[in-house]
Amino acid sequence: MKIDIITVLPELLESPFAHSIMKRAREKGLLELNVHQLRKWAVNKYGQVDDYQFGGGAGMVMMPEPLVNAIESLSAQTPYDEIIYLTPDGELFNQQAANQLSLKKNLLLICGHYKGIDERVREHYVTREISIGDYVLSGGELPAAILVDAIGRLIPGVLNDETSALFDSFQDGLLAPPVYTRPAEFRGWKVPEVLLSGDPKKVDEWRHEMSIRRTEARRPGLQGDQ
Ligand code: ADE
Repeated sequence: MKIDIITVLPELLESPFAHSIMKRAREKGLLELNVHQLRKWAVNKYGQVDDYQFGGGAGMVMMPEPLVNAIESLSAQTPYDEIIYLTPDGELFNQQAANQLSLKKNLLLICGHYKGIDERVREHYVTREISIGDYVLSGGELPAAILVDAIGRLIPGVLNDETSALFDSFQDGLLAPPVYTRPAEFRGWKVPEVLLSGDPKKVDEWRHEMSIRRTEARRPGLQGDQ
């Protein structure tokens, strides 16, 4: 899969993909990630990409021209399956959306700043608008990083058996069960007996039961949310 990202702050997107699973996915050639500085398409030599909003009001708006030039020049090289704008008023991102997007070949992500991007870019170029939650961040870079991580780890071959996504929380509409590691007793607190029983069927049943209980207690509407 190839993901291109348009941003005014490429530095913010370096570290999230330079470690652990994302790093391995890139090294294995399963995920190609390209971060593009929007100022490359600025309207003047000062690197301007934003301007005051019509109608007045505080906050700058990202201009259509640099964005459209960036989108068109990147689209000329790559046929994008989706052009995604990260915005707090987009559809709420969840595991189902991550699963869907992980099946695509080419994605273009647009990170907004300030008051957001000119509406005409949304109308004429953006194919999907995604929010990572009901709160406002100072830019779309961290949301973009979250999207890429959630999607990237689902690309076939990125995770091995041990880290398989099949048993993640949300994959079956349930939260994951509690997990334990050594020692079997710590400060008098014991690991549930069944996990030490060596009986895989019992362990599976216990985990499933705990998943159900945990989901009912913490996220009772989860099945319906998905
Ligand atoms: N940009 C600013 N806040 C955001 C959010 N919650 N989701 C996606 N993009 C954003």
